[in-house]
Amino acid sequence: MRFVRRFGKMIPLVAAFAVTVTAAGDDRELVKLPEPMQAHMLANMRDHLVTLNELLKLVAREDYKPAAELAEARLGMSSLGLHGASHMAPFMPQPMQEMGTSMHHAASRFALVATDADVERSKAALQQATAALQEITASCTACHAAYRLR
Ligand code: HEC
Repeated sequence: MRFVRRFGKMIPLVAAFAVTVTAAGDDRELVKLPEPMQAHMLANMRDHLVTLNELLKLVAREDYKPAAELAEARLGMSSLGLHGASHMAPFMPQPMQEMGTSMHHAASRFALVATDADVERSKAALQQATAALQEITASCTACHAAYRLR
């Protein structure tokens, strides 16, 4: 009992670590893209991370309006043309396409939540914006757990 009291809180952490270790065995599905398309997709990915980093900075400062605009333009439904999504989608398995779409939806939803937060200016609004941001990262990690390009 004493052990559980002292270390009980660590059990989920240990379980999460075990999942990570299993994933290191790598059961992700390989998706073969033509070379230039692969380079393009990876460049998009690096841009996603840059955008995410910028969004975290803006939300932490409660700069909601620029965060909403950036998320919509670079990750949201408005960014599909920018990323050449329609050229790449046919090479992806259906569930992967859906994960991509859900990331773009999550980013557009974040843009709406951040736009509201810009008016509300409360702690609750900050929490909602942060939660909406995490829905974007959830879609990044879901796809990364399932697929690889090389
Ligand atoms: C639809 C699937 C999908 C989504 C959604 C997705 N990624 Fe990726 N991402 C991939 C795949 C596949 C790779 C290549 C992994 C590999 O081959 O090992 C990758 C690679 C990356 C890389 C490495 C790029 C490089 O040059 O090696 C970064 C950084 C990255 N993703 C960031 C993100 C971020 C941030 C998000 C969310 C905002 C995101 N990705 C959403 C599928 C996705």
